[in-house]
Amino acid sequence: MITEESISLTWPNIKIEELPVFKPKLDLAVMASGKGSNFEALIKSIERSQLQASINCLLVNNETCGSIAIAEKYNVPYEIINHKQYSSREKFDFEILRILDTYNIEGIVMAGWMRIVTPVLIDKYKNRIVNIHPSLLPSFRGINAVNQAVEMNVKISGCTVHLVTEAVDSGKILIQAAVPLLEGESQYSLTKRIQSEEHKILPIGVALAAKVWREF
Ligand code: GRF
Repeated sequence: MITEESISLTWPNIKIEELPVFKPKLDLAVMASGKGSNFEALIKSIERSQLQASINCLLVNNETCGSIAIAEKYNVPYEIINHKQYSSREKFDFEILRILDTYNIEGIVMAGWMRIVTPVLIDKYKNRIVNIHPSLLPSFRGINAVNQAVEMNVKISGCTVHLVTEAVDSGKILIQAAVPLLEGESQYSLTKRIQSEEHKILPIGVALAAKVWREF
């Protein structure tokens, strides 16, 4: 039965089984600041062999973030780098580059990375940084996107996987999922429903970006 909760539309309509087979597997780093549910979804899609990838490193900017426990659970090496110890965004990004250079990385997945990145990082990994954002971009860029959607009383929100460029939440869109708002929906319940779509589209978005790096 179709309920309002179950209505969602993902476009492009690519099933995870239709993702390209990457051989050798993709070497990725994940950057995260939050609880890490998208990071875990990515790990699970790799474990199920849906995405041929290895997450060589998790980078977090906050030692209390839940992503660390997930890295420990799945034995992903992680590094904590506190942005507050750097006097500029550029200096922080140079340190990120230095760390990533010690891992073998061809692409970066920002799975809830809550810092603005600069050309220092973006230019080195041009078209190889993927971000997940909880709105149908270009609506509701920046922070509190779900809250903004609820306050604007929109009827449909969703999530977007896109490439990272200098302008925040503005790079090429790879895949989106639409999530209709229910009557009187709270930010909490909408966040949960959007996140369950995020977990589905993130691995697909990564594969779509990687198809270009690998020239499929
Ligand atoms: C996600 O909703 C993502 O769209 C946003 O930050 C949130 C991270 O959630 N950029 P989690 O840490 O992956 O659970």
